[in-house]
Amino acid sequence: MADAVRLGIVGCGGIAGAHLNGYEKLAAEGYDRFAITAVCDVNADGANAFADRIEKNLGTRPQVFATADEMVAAGAADAADICLPHAFHHTAGVTCLQGGVHIMVEKPVGITVKATRRIMEAAEGTDLVIAGAEQIRRCIGARAIEWAINDQKMFGDPLFFTQEVFSGAPFDRSSYKFAWRSLKVMGGGGQILDGGAHFTDMVQHVYGPVDEVMCTMRTIDETMIELPDMEPQPADIEDLWTATLIFESGVIGHWGWSNYAWGEKLSTRMHYGTEGSFSDRQEWQHPFQFGADLKLKDGTETPYEEIEAAYLAGLSEAEKSRLFPYGITEGITIECWDFIEAVADGRSPEIDAQEALQAKSLCFALYESAAAGGAPTKVADVRDGKIHAYQDPIDEYWNI
Ligand SMILES: NC(=O)c1ccc[n+]([C@@H]2O[C@H](COP(=O)([O-])OP(=O)(O)OC[C@H]3O[C@@H](n4cnc5c(N)ncnc54)[C@H](O)[C@@H]3O)[C@@H](O)[C@H]2O)c1
Repeated sequence: MADAVRLGIVGCGGIAGAHLNGYEKLAAEGYDRFAITAVCDVNADGANAFADRIEKNLGTRPQVFATADEMVAAGAADAADICLPHAFHHTAGVTCLQGGVHIMVEKPVGITVKATRRIMEAAEGTDLVIAGAEQIRRCIGARAIEWAINDQKMFGDPLFFTQEVFSGAPFDRSSYKFAWRSLKVMGGGGQILDGGAHFTDMVQHVYGPVDEVMCTMRTIDETMIELPDMEPQPADIEDLWTATLIFESGVIGHWGWSNYAWGEKLSTRMHYGTEGSFSDRQEWQHPFQFGADLKLKDGTETPYEEIEAAYLAGLSEAEKSRLFPYGITEGITIECWDFIEAVADGRSPEIDAQEALQAKSLCFALYESAAAGGAPTKVADVRDGKIHAYQDPIDEYWNI
């Protein structure tokens, strides 16, 4: 354990608990390349509850801090797992990197493209790791279907997909975790940038970069939002959108969602190629997390279980231990392992900042298109900072 990576968890809320499950699972397998030495949360009760749990389950009590600044000033960690509301990813990220601390950042890396670039600039000229905490493409279902589509061409050449999920299922905006998600200045946007960040990562991972988008959105629920240190203000994020995505490869995607669609629920998650279709088993924003079923034009059907078995049978032992360490097939534990390995071995993480930025630039392009009345918008122009009208008020609010 002498050279174990000293890890700090920054933000001890919902997803940090899932990351901690992952670290505990790794420790239970005998993985000893990390020790959790610090936890940070402005909510002292939350941070102390994490410290208690880590002491009980991993054997050593971490130091408790309110913020990443305090943790870095105390020199309490070599690496930080940042699980904060989106508005604080770049502040905590830059503090860590400037203090020589490697980071893994929950999605989206930064609350805007400019915020993301601030984080990337802070690591320039160093060997510090910036890892994107993106678990969906590391799940066995996603890895297997990506292989089935791109390696095995199981449904021929990809042509188009449609994912539309409309239901009446509003969030409880009186809770902190949905309150900050209800304001652009705290979340950067609504579900396009939140759960949708997984969708934009996965569809580009499978089909390559998106060239252009057209998007229309609405804010239906304008409930007053109350957050510490902020004036009460109405929710202003999208809770309905419909979008067309045109990939550089020519693939066309349609993506729509609302949780204010009352009455009958609609849920379609279909991907089509020249020879057949994949029916995605999930209905959140996590393409292929639980695999997909294949149906070909001659009527042949292949359930996902058979595709997964064929995928695993074709992997060497070395590939299996890289893709599914300790036989773990769930993405969050794999991303935590990958981050520690990248820091310990001085290698690149599976998803670096540039790749994470590409996924989130698609989210921002959808917002920019909607802000321009649904105008066709090039993702590269948004990623390269040429189009930013939607993001400007957020950047101005935080002085980015
Ligand atoms: N990968 C996934 O599937 C997934 C799922 C949920 C959330 N997330 C991401 O995880 C991040 C956190 O989301 P969450 O659901 O855990 O939120 P949350 O509200 O449950 O937790 C955030 C925590 O950060 C603390 N906090 C706020 N400001 C702070 C500051 N300046 N310094 C220290 N602590 C601070 C809060 O007290 C809270 O405990 C977001 O980026 C979100 O998008 C990812």
